[in-house]
Amino acid sequence: LTNIRDLFRDKEMYLDKEISVGGWVRSVRGSKTFGFIVVNDGTFFEPLQVVYGDHLENFAEISKLNVGAAIIVTGKLVATPDAKQPFEIQADKVEIEGASAPDYPLQKKRHSFEYLRTISHLRPRTNTFEAVFRVRSLIAYAIHKFFQERDFVYVHTPLITGSDCEGAGEMFQVTTMDLNNVPKTDDGSVDFTQDFFGKPTNLTVSGQLNGETYAMAFKNIYTFGPTFRAENSNTTRHAAEFWMIEPEIAFADLKDDMVLAESMLKYVIRYVLEHAPEEMEFFNKFVDKGLLDRLNHVLNSDFGHVTYTEAIEILEKNNDKFDYKVFWGADLQTEHERYLTEEIFKRPVFVTDYPKEIKAFYMKLNEDGKTVAAMDCLVPGIGEIIGGSQREDDYDKLLERMKELGLKAEDYDFYLDLRKYGSARHAGFGLGFERCVMYLTGMGNIRDVIPFPRTVNNCEL
Ligand code: 4AD
Ligand code: MG
Repeated sequence: LTNIRDLFRDKEMYLDKEISVGGWVRSVRGSKTFGFIVVNDGTFFEPLQVVYGDHLENFAEISKLNVGAAIIVTGKLVATPDAKQPFEIQADKVEIEGASAPDYPLQKKRHSFEYLRTISHLRPRTNTFEAVFRVRSLIAYAIHKFFQERDFVYVHTPLITGSDCEGAGEMFQVTTMDLNNVPKTDDGSVDFTQDFFGKPTNLTVSGQLNGETYAMAFKNIYTFGPTFRAENSNTTRHAAEFWMIEPEIAFADLKDDMVLAESMLKYVIRYVLEHAPEEMEFFNKFVDKGLLDRLNHVLNSDFGHVTYTEAIEILEKNNDKFDYKVFWGADLQTEHERYLTEEIFKRPVFVTDYPKEIKAFYMKLNEDGKTVAAMDCLVPGIGEIIGGSQREDDYDKLLERMKELGLKAEDYDFYLDLRKYGSARHAGFGLGFERCVMYLTGMGNIRDVIPFPRTVNNCEL
């Protein structure tokens, strides 16, 4: 079978030749003696038009095909210079691989993204979602390629863990205990020694802590895997299950970290523009009209840089525009992040040196004693896409910070060991994979860039 993508990409090679294409019917229009089928095989979002006539023995059957049916068409590809599409296939044979019931939910009309979310098993058969998930796949490949070309080691960090990397307490517990009959200790608390791992465990919110241990062996590593957060935020940018890319680099500081993040994002943008030009044109036309201009602008400019303290000064002057008024010490909300990147910088921007109180325990304390060597990368349309930092590499300072936050040192022995045996400056970041897909496609809802999204009150399929 020939891929429809190849027909569009190498038209001259296939014109006037006999080919076979297998795919799913998008529409059928028939008359008494001939008809047209539009078929899509998932390799390209432009479908292929098939012309069939009553010389085919199963003509009657073909005319009755429902949308969604799977067929294999064999015939000659001929140019159609006067038509909207560049060519069509004149069928010598139409084999019906699998018929489709008349109640197929994807009829030939525009369906809303909201509706398509209710049929996430069928929506990849629509143009938009076909393009989104093909580009999602390409982005994943480009990210691996970027790190592999730079000799980063891909580390598979565990999904089940006993720690809470971000310290935000937004974890899904993992247990084999019968919740209706939980074993208790003498003082009435849950007896986790009787649980599968003999202690409380949860799904990981980040692979970072494990990743750091490998960076202290391989120098440069990255993770790329699922992470889980039980955040009760029902927004267009939060999912309970999302993928994160977390590089960790040794003998490197916050500046090196930002250089890495910027070159990674630019690499991925360039890769996708080059390898999915048709899909990117499609997004630019139907999903987000400014997309290509914006991405090209990113490639041709440097990311902005601003400290948290400077950012607060800028934002405070505009507090009348915000639902949440900012002040030094406040965590930035999406509205503030977007204002900075969309109105002030008009390109991606790194915000650095946040107050230690609003950041995780592992971040390196700055000399002012108040801020940490953190960076968030904000992009137009989304806000935070990357969160990273230089790590505290001083044993005593780290221990002190953990005590301040009430973290038990014995739970983090392995992590403290890294500061005891050959501690080295190191830094890293986490790129939210889905937010990256949103950024590159212009899709506005995280539910529409995840094949089977998991969000508050939603775990279908
Ligand atoms: O800023 P975060 O929480 O950073 C970390 O987890 C660090 N351990 C990363 C590191 O330094 N190795 O999360 C990183 C990124 C965010 O910038 C965001 O893009 C994404 O992960 N993210 C989410 N994406 C979708 N849904 C959610 N609920 C997300 N929470 C974070
Ligand atoms: Mg963050």
